[in-house]
Amino acid sequence: MNDIIRTLVESFGPSGCEDRIRAIIRELVEPCVDEVRVDALGNLIAHKRGTGTGKRIMLSAHMDEIGVIVSYIDEKGFVRVQPIGGVNPMLEIGGRVQFESGIVGVVSYSKLPNGAQVPGFDQLFIDVAASSRETCPVKVGETGCFLQPMIEVGGHLTSKAMDDRIGCAVLIETLRQLGTTPHDVVAVFSTQEEVGLRGATTAAFGVAPEVGIAVDVTLSPDTPEPGIKMAVGLDQGPAIKIKDGGMIATAWVKDWMIATAEANTIPYQLEVLVGGTTDARAMQTTRDGIASGCLSIPCRYVHSPSETVSLSDVQNAVKLLVAMLSAVCPAN
Ligand code: CO
Ligand code: ZN
Repeated sequence: MNDIIRTLVESFGPSGCEDRIRAIIRELVEPCVDEVRVDALGNLIAHKRGTGTGKRIMLSAHMDEIGVIVSYIDEKGFVRVQPIGGVNPMLEIGGRVQFESGIVGVVSYSKLPNGAQVPGFDQLFIDVAASSRETCPVKVGETGCFLQPMIEVGGHLTSKAMDDRIGCAVLIETLRQLGTTPHDVVAVFSTQEEVGLRGATTAAFGVAPEVGIAVDVTLSPDTPEPGIKMAVGLDQGPAIKIKDGGMIATAWVKDWMIATAEANTIPYQLEVLVGGTTDARAMQTTRDGIASGCLSIPCRYVHSPSETVSLSDVQNAVKLLVAMLSAVCPAN
């Protein structure tokens, strides 16, 4: 699975610019499903037909990653950017940004305003070795994302885009391993999640599922003095979401996840996340309401260039989803 994960996490795809990552995912899922289509918002929708005795189940993992968009080039050719999604400028300093055209620049910052402790986007600049606005190889409106190869240390995988390419990897691997299923499984690789669940919002309406399950990362505050009290850590199994900042998981969907994990002795954790939300919110609140839940991959340093997950948590997430989708669900 590591090769697929590496391919996915090292690809380019900030919100609104998912064409390249979508083409990669399309090639990987096409052999495992009955049909694949792309909707107007760019969501990739892969449908595996069931035997007809189950539910219509939408799975969703977002393809997009956080990044930047060029808002201004100054007279000396330094590139100024605005964030796409929740980017912390402090975490980008000293790193590199790759733009759509392939050009790579170095991120640094100018003098902080009086009283400021950390730089904001107004102080951030990207050096692409240009000497003037006219000769700058990067243009206003171009997007960029952070450039970091994936590393693998002690069973942990680190990259700039675990959020949420690791969820995409889980869906792809689930589709690969899933044999005959009672359910009509519709796997959506959604767009523009990081700017407000926009892809999943239209995809959920279009797919009109009976059950929605998102796969996304959640915080793993098992690091020195994290400052939040949350019972989630790496290497202890995927986290079954109970609640986050935008959704309370539908009770029977959450219970279905727990019962399946127990029955198959798959390790799991229970997640109560204070802020943030996932595509599950968009699914749950579409149409006249859809029973929805979320399976989370615990992730340290979310929205940094070194998002870190545990490979065993990822593998156990696949196991759990395959087990869930292989049998009829409790609401049948
Ligand atoms: Co995110
Ligand atoms: Zn995410």
